[in-house]
Formats: sequence, C-alpha cells, structure tokens
Amino acid sequence: MGLKRILSGMRPTGKLHLGNLHGALKNWVDLQEGGQYDCFYFVADWHAVTSEYSSTEDIKNNAINMVIDWLSVGLDPKKSTLFVQSAVKEHAELFLLLSMITPLAWLERNPTYKEMKTELSNKDLSTFGFLGYPVLQAADIIMYKAHGVPVGVDQLPHVELTREIARRFNFLYKEIFPVPEPLLTSVPKLLGMDGRKMSKSYDNSIYISDRDKVLQQKIASMFTDPQRMRRSDAGNPEICNVFSFHGLYSPKQKVAEIDAECRKAGIGCIDCKKILAQHVAENLKPVHERMDYYTNHLDEIHAIIDEGNQKATKIACQTMNEVRDAVKI
Ligand code: TRP
Ligand code: SF4
Repeated sequence: MGLKRILSGMRPTGKLHLGNLHGALKNWVDLQEGGQYDCFYFVADWHAVTSEYSSTEDIKNNAINMVIDWLSVGLDPKKSTLFVQSAVKEHAELFLLLSMITPLAWLERNPTYKEMKTELSNKDLSTFGFLGYPVLQAADIIMYKAHGVPVGVDQLPHVELTREIARRFNFLYKEIFPVPEPLLTSVPKLLGMDGRKMSKSYDNSIYISDRDKVLQQKIASMFTDPQRMRRSDAGNPEICNVFSFHGLYSPKQKVAEIDAECRKAGIGCIDCKKILAQHVAENLKPVHERMDYYTNHLDEIHAIIDEGNQKATKIACQTMNEVRDAVKI
C-alpha cells in the first residue's frame, strides 16, 4: 500500500468521555474515512503503568472497554489497524535501544514531565520509567515509520522529542526512520459539568456510554453563563458551556434560535438543557447500539485485537530487523 502511515495511541485510563470523543476520536475516525492515510491506533497500556504502577488491576479491563468505545464511535478494524502496545514486545526492545541514545537533559526539560510530577503529587513519579515515557512513545511512533501523529497540543513536546530521537538514530546508525510530523487536532472547547476541564479525575465528565436518566441528569447539572442568575436575566451564549455543546449536537437552525432567545431571556436554562439532552441522546443512539452489540460479543473484540496485534507485530518485526542490523547487534 502506498499510503502514508499515521499512528496514535491512548492510555487505557477508563471509559472515554465526550472530551475524548471530540478532542481525539472523531479526528481518528475522520482520518480513517479520509482514505489519505494508513491508520494505526493503539492502546498504550505500558504507558498507563508509568503512572499506575501501584494499582495495575484495572488496566486490562480498561483496555478492552476502550476498544469497545473506539469501535462504537466508528473506528473500523477493516480500515484501521487497532492493537495493544504490550502485545507487540518489539516496542520494549526499540525503547531500550532508543534509551541508550537519548540524552537525559532532553527528558528532564520535557514540560509534560515537570507538570505531571507536580500535578500528580499524590503519586511518586520519580521513576526511571516515568522519565522515559517519551522514549517509549518515540519507539511506538517510529516502529511503524509513521509520517504523521494525530495528537492534541498537549502531546506536541512528545512528538518533538520523537523527532529529535529519530534524527539522532538516523545520524548515529543509518537513515531508517522518517521524522514524523504532528497532525494537530483542533479541539473544541468542551468543559465538564462543573465548568473545569472535562477530566475523569475531576468527576465532572459526561461519558460516551452515558444515556437516559444519567445523561439527562448530567446535562441538567451543567454550569451555564455564570452571570445569568435568574430566569429573567438575559444570558450570553458565548461564555456558556451548554451552548458549546449545542454547537456540536444540535441542528444549525436550533443553535441560532437558542443564541437569539438566550440573549433576550426568551428561553430558560432548564429548557435549553432539555433540548440539548435530547440532541445528545439522539446523536449517541447509534454509538450506544454498537456498544451494546460489542459488550455482548466480547469474543469479537478479542478477535479484532488479535488481528490488529498480528498486523502490527509483522511490521514491528521488519523494523527491528533493520534496527538490529543498523546498530550491529
Ligand atoms: N502519550 C499519549 C497520551 O497520553 C499516548 C501515546 C503513547 C501516544 N504513545 C503514543 C500518542 C504514540 C501518539 C503516538 O495521550
Ligand atoms: Fe446557556 Fe442555554 Fe442558559 Fe443561554 S439558555 S445561558 S445558552 S444554558
């Protein structure tokens, strides 16, 4: 196949929320459907261990559930290769070799590393593995000679490090690896129910799997324009998270109507949210149908993952033959 390859991964930290859906998954599906790229998407379960090493019991289950979420939103194993990192042991070998050529200073100055260490201060992340997180990520990417890496801005430092590591390998041994480009995903600004960034750890997320009462209640509890205290106050949709969701889920005409009505207090937030809940539910209906199907056909999930693992392994083995040859080991 002459198509350029792209690759992206996600850590299996639990069920995915609408922030993940609009921030990454929709883009993955678009890239798959665009027919421009040979798409590889994988579960970064070893990366999950870097921060969850003291409680690893959920990782395996999370990985399966995450793949169910992926398939439910439209990733198609006939079009994309879906695999699990830890099933392709070659990642560990390439990680090891890359670790030999990666200067410590590159890792120590990585902004994500510094941030996460302060943010997750309840965990001891002063480990070799956590510092080396981007080296493993570099191995993931260059293993498949990916030309593009679809990611959000938060991952740019990691892709930049990957580029430096790939160049260093090419310089020291042999020109094997393309230097990958980030394919930046533009992320619509969706906040959690409480107005903070939607995040599993804040307990403010609407999950892709949420439906019926749970979905309605979560939407009903969303923060709105904070200046609109009473029903009779005019609102400002531009600063309202509910309105951002309308933009993604409601028909254009409805969005325009709500925009106008909100500004003159013609619609109240309770009704506005009810309308939103309806549209979100309608939109997610086919997703939930696929989710129900796969949840009841776990054997199919395992077969899909096995097949993806085999496809990935085949390429990884070819790359590692070249790598061993180049490193003369
Ligand atoms: N670090 C990425 C994240 O947290 C996950 C990841 C691991 C990844 N390996 C990758 C993303 C390779 C893109 C390419 O989201
Ligand atoms: Fe937000 Fe809708 Fe309330 Fe306006 S009416 S403030 S858009 S929830």
